[in-house]
Amino acid sequence: MKFPYSETVLEHFRHPRNVGKIENADGKAIEGSPACGDMVSVYISVDPNTNKLTDIKFESYGCASNIATGSIITELAKGKTLDEAKKITWKEASEALGGLPKIKAHCSVLAVEGLRSAIENYEERHGLVKDRKPTTVEVVRKRLKKVMNPLSGLDLVHTNLVRDIEVKDGAVRVAVDLPADNQFASAIKEEIVDKIEPLWDVKKVVVEFTE
Ligand code: FES
Repeated sequence: MKFPYSETVLEHFRHPRNVGKIENADGKAIEGSPACGDMVSVYISVDPNTNKLTDIKFESYGCASNIATGSIITELAKGKTLDEAKKITWKEASEALGGLPKIKAHCSVLAVEGLRSAIENYEERHGLVKDRKPTTVEVVRKRLKKVMNPLSGLDLVHTNLVRDIEVKDGAVRVAVDLPADNQFASAIKEEIVDKIEPLWDVKKVVVEFTE
């Protein structure tokens, strides 16, 4: 059977590098693809003196292209500074893999977004964000687009689970249209806090569910 993939893609898919999780990672992110509902997690360790990535790992819940891209971008990013790693594009990743079928471009975009978000998470947690814009309802909504609704594999905003958002004096309140005893409520709450809390001017995040 002939696969539509290059030998390099198949090699990285069969033997992906840097798969796994870093416990107590310095930065981490989960990204979901609106195109296919798949997800990728990226974990990074950073040397605070040099701002270089000393370790990087990923877990993919996506397809072969996503696994191969996760493998290649972690290889490309390791040892680079945060600024250098942020500049890695999905095109570069796809080229390093010897090309990906066009229909699979979103899979490599997903892996690259995962890396960028993990770096962003590190920068936010360490006060390294240069462009300090105030947190608004829109900023919060954008972040909530990256919180997955496990019931559907899509994000909270697209599945209309966000009932209300309020931002006031450094406190963010998010009302979710799910009962508090829903089996996914605590996981969703944890992910919301994880995404919103690192914002530089946020002091408190409250997540409310319905009765
Ligand atoms: Fe979802 Fe490739 S089809 S990541």
